[in-house]
Amino acid sequence: MNVNDVVEKVLIDQDELKSIVKGLADKISDDYKGKKLLVVGILKGAVLFMSDILKELTTECEIDFISASSYNGTQNSGVVSITKDLSIDPKGYDVLLIEDILESGATLGVISDILHKRGANSVKFCVLLDKPECRKTDITADYIGKTVSQEFVVGYGLDYDEKYRNLPFVGILKKEFYCR
Ligand code: IMP
Ligand code: MG
Repeated sequence: MNVNDVVEKVLIDQDELKSIVKGLADKISDDYKGKKLLVVGILKGAVLFMSDILKELTTECEIDFISASSYNGTQNSGVVSITKDLSIDPKGYDVLLIEDILESGATLGVISDILHKRGANSVKFCVLLDKPECRKTDITADYIGKTVSQEFVVGYGLDYDEKYRNLPFVGILKKEFYCR
C-alpha cells in the first residue's frame, strides 16, 4: 500500500485524533459515573477509535461488538444488515455505541432500535466523525469527534473497500476513487 496513491490530504492528524479522543473520553467518564455502562463498538470501523477511547476512560465498563453493513465501495446502499451480533444481553445496561462515522443515520438507527427492543436502559452514540449534510434520518450523535463535509474519508478505522483502515490518521480519499 502506498498512502500517497490514495489520500488527497490528511484531514485529522495523529495529534488531533489524540486530543479528540481525550476530550470525548473525559466527557463519557463524567456522564457514566455510577452507571452500568456497556460500550459497544460497531465493527469494523470503530475498532481503532474505540480502543483509544477505552484506554482513556476512568469509569467502569464492559465492552462488546456488533457488526452491520450498508456500504459497497463508496456507495451507501441504505439497507443495513446485522452481520455479527452482541455476545452480552444489553438488558438493563446504559449502552454507548461507538461508530466511526455518522452519515445517513441508517446504521445507528437500526442498531439502537434493536438495543431498545432488548431492554437497554439507555442508548447513546459516540462517533468520531459526523457528516450532517448526508443525513437521511433524525439521528443525532451525543458525542462527536469532528464534523466533516461530504468527502469520502479513510484511515483510523475507516475503509475504502475494506482497505486503508490501518492508516494512523484520517485522510480524504483521492477523487478518482469516487463514483458518486
Ligand atoms: P450511515 O448508516 O449512512 O450513517 O453510514 C455509516 C457507515 O457508512 C459508517 O459506519 C461507515 O462504515 C460508512 N461510511 C460513511 N461515510 C464514510 C466515509 O467517508 N468513509 C468510509 N466509510 C464511510
Ligand atoms: Mg465501512
